Amino acid sequence: MKILRAKDYADMSRKAANIISAQIILRPDCVLGLATGSTPVGTYQQLIEWYQKGDLDFAQVSTYNLDEYRGLSHDDSQSYHHFMRENLFDHVNIDAAHTHVPDGSNPDADAACSAYDQAVAAVGYPDLQLLGIGNNGHIGFNEPDDHFSKGTHCVDLTESTIQANSRLFAHADDVPRQAYTMGTQTIMAARQILVIASGKKKAQAVYDMCYGPVTPACPASILQLHTNCVVVADEAALTMC
Ligand code: GLP
Repeated sequence: MKILRAKDYADMSRKAANIISAQIILRPDCVLGLATGSTPVGTYQQLIEWYQKGDLDFAQVSTYNLDEYRGLSHDDSQSYHHFMRENLFDHVNIDAAHTHVPDGSNPDADAACSAYDQAVAAVGYPDLQLLGIGNNGHIGFNEPDDHFSKGTHCVDLTESTIQANSRLFAHADDVPRQAYTMGTQTIMAARQILVIASGKKKAQAVYDMCYGPVTPACPASILQLHTNCVVVADEAALTMC
């Protein structure tokens, strides 16, 4: 793992956007694995700014998002489909047909997850996978467990994730209890992984990811075994490192 120290959130976002830009410039038809949450918003804003200046071209890029809440329609304002349109896709020249997010609106979990797995495998997995990290060390929606997950699957969200994500909903009761997420094995299949983390709340998870034992109790710890993983974190998130 390569750990890059950023001064603050803005610096983390710029550094992460630089790494993603390099991928797009070197391989215009690259496959990007994308993430949701508050952490990547600044990275997406930076990419949009560079696109608007004419420095980036998304015409041939395709994207596969990590996860989606189960039971939300694509137009639900809390869905990750909506999040991605609002925070990136609607502002760059990406072809909507090249963007993919698990289909949370399909109640048939097995069908939705295996269709997504086949689609990600068919393109040969992401060239670069962007990841945030949950306060409890989750990646995508792979929650702490007694084993590492494999392909895309349906998960029950932990109480701590429901609480953490409730800030984006009117009430904690509105947070869906389940999600479809790429599995750990799928995430590890990406050729490069870029983890971003900001703020004190992430300090323990970032420490466990980088220096703790490799254990499904901290799903992000498996990234220690990836041969090309870069962590860009700000000072607050690195206080324990
Ligand atoms: C959600 C997402 C994760 C994300 C995590 C952290 O649970 N499924 O992909 O990394 O939240 O979110 P935030 O960046 O808002 O702290």
